[in-house]
Amino acid sequence: MSDKPKRQIRVGDTFIHQKAIDYVNQVLKSNRLSYGPFTKKFEEEFARLHDRKYGLFCNSGTSALEVAIHALKEKYSWSDGDEVLVPAVTFIATSNVVIQNHLKPVFVEVDPIYYEIDPEKIEERVTSRTRAIMPVHLFGQPCDMDPIMEIARKHNLKVVEDSCETMFVNYKGNPTGSWGDISCFSTYVAHLLVTGVGGLCLTNDNDLAVLIKSLYNHGRDGIYISIDDDDDKKGKALFNIVEKRFSFVHVGYSYRCTEMEGALGLAGLEERGNMLEKRLSNALFYTEKLQKYAQYIQLPSIRPETEHAFMMYPIIVHKESGFSREDLIFFLEENGIETRNAMPLLSQPVYRKIFGEIEDQYPVAKWITHNGFYIGCHQEMREKDLEYVVEKFDEFFVKLAK
Ligand SMILES: Cc1ncc(COP(=O)(O)O)c(C=O)c1O
Repeated sequence: MSDKPKRQIRVGDTFIHQKAIDYVNQVLKSNRLSYGPFTKKFEEEFARLHDRKYGLFCNSGTSALEVAIHALKEKYSWSDGDEVLVPAVTFIATSNVVIQNHLKPVFVEVDPIYYEIDPEKIEERVTSRTRAIMPVHLFGQPCDMDPIMEIARKHNLKVVEDSCETMFVNYKGNPTGSWGDISCFSTYVAHLLVTGVGGLCLTNDNDLAVLIKSLYNHGRDGIYISIDDDDDKKGKALFNIVEKRFSFVHVGYSYRCTEMEGALGLAGLEERGNMLEKRLSNALFYTEKLQKYAQYIQLPSIRPETEHAFMMYPIIVHKESGFSREDLIFFLEENGIETRNAMPLLSQPVYRKIFGEIEDQYPVAKWITHNGFYIGCHQEMREKDLEYVVEKFDEFFVKLAK
């Protein structure tokens, strides 16, 4: 039997690779921290990998989402109080940004296998005020995008993909983030590609790209966003920029980040193959070893024709299992295995205050959020960590049988 590891087995872990150290050192030596060549290259490469023209890096996934909704609201003249469809299971930032934009999140039931927005439940929530859908690619897996896009087209809805938990993986041959008018990603600690803080908006729409970049930068005129924008300008063109350097054309935000995060992002891109491979093999290892407990716990499924980035490994305790989620997670935590509850949203104190007691309208979401949790399957886990986790599950179920 393995000893309890000295460190906790976390849902995410950080290891700064040599390439990241080299790139950050290059930034430090360059005497430049504001938007520059590392960030630009990271944006371009990240966008290319997700089949989008424009990538726009900012200081968090939440900032990216907030600005994405703001940009669409401004471009398409939505009114305060218009509605945006959001899955009933997600991290709270998805729906917070809707509220922060003075719009109304309308929750949609999720499916019981992949835990993502259920395309069959979307249309029942569409009203004359619905303006957009926000599919959330949860836990590392893209949503069932074909029917979602069909419904969006039918009702003339914009689509903002919340891909903060998923990157570099395909659904039916197309990468996550490549369907929406805008797609948003997070590079926060314990996510997939990590820059400490960070987020991206991707889009194919030039107008939206200009607007998003401006909104990140206090609403500044797009003519002068970066200190390079006047580099090769002369005469009238230069004077035009000089005049507009301090010209603000939108009510924007201060959501910039620095070349340090850009450098970490660029280095992370080079590690992505290894990261995805390890996560998948770790998740498959758990699934193989824990399958024998399928009558008690539901393990994650991979949607057909879909790749899974396994940002985490979600588990749901069946109602008739004879024990509660809390019994299992307390046992795991006591043994040094970190857990997180699976994305409770409608039961959050602040949402109960705003929306009232609406959980019963979403039985699948309620089942997931009251019985689900996740554990780590990240690339820094060693073989003996994985074996230890499985041993602890075995121990729990042996005790249960007694
Ligand atoms: C689904 C989802 N959306 C949005 C976010 C927000 O990202 P950030 O923490 O970078 O603001 C997260 C972060 O955990 C997330 O999981």
